[in-house]
Amino acid sequence: MVCVVQQKEAGVHELMNIAVRPEQQQLGVGSRLLLWVIELYRDAGARALEVGTGSFGYQLTFYQRHGFRVVAIDRDFFVMHYQEPIFEEGIRLRDMLRLRIEYGN
Ligand SMILES: CC(C)(COP(=O)(O)OP(=O)(O)OC[C@H]1O[C@@H](n2cnc3c(N)ncnc32)[C@H](O)[C@@H]1OP(=O)(O)O)[C@@H](O)C(=O)NCCC(=O)NCCS
Repeated sequence: MVCVVQQKEAGVHELMNIAVRPEQQQLGVGSRLLLWVIELYRDAGARALEVGTGSFGYQLTFYQRHGFRVVAIDRDFFVMHYQEPIFEEGIRLRDMLRLRIEYGN
């Protein structure tokens, strides 16, 4: 599994990548890792944790279930930044949703 977080500005970090080996997915590992990261930055006194994800699909549900809220839409992000078109559930992924957890310290 992998989890990459980058600081964007003072008190604000972005989850750049989170992934679990395909054969180990849907066993709760990703949820535990995401919760651990959320709590890590909460305990460190951060203001917010952000992530960008597709505008549909299970990843969006995964983040929203753990408290992330949509704050912006990056239209055509996946069209402009990926050479090959990405399809999920037969639909071309075009727009990125920017999500955020505000810690409210
Ligand atoms: C997203 C990811 C990290 C979640 O890890 P995980 O260990 O599978 O997570 P969990 O087992 O805790 O499951 C979280 C939810 O995602 C769902 N899920 C996970 N993999 C799925 C898949 N391939 N298809 C459909 N749903 C899936 C689970 O069913 C679960 O849904 P629920 O909360 O409604 O029960 C993992 O699926 C992954 O590595 N995906 C590929 C990389 C990726 O897309 N990363 C996110 C980039 S935005």
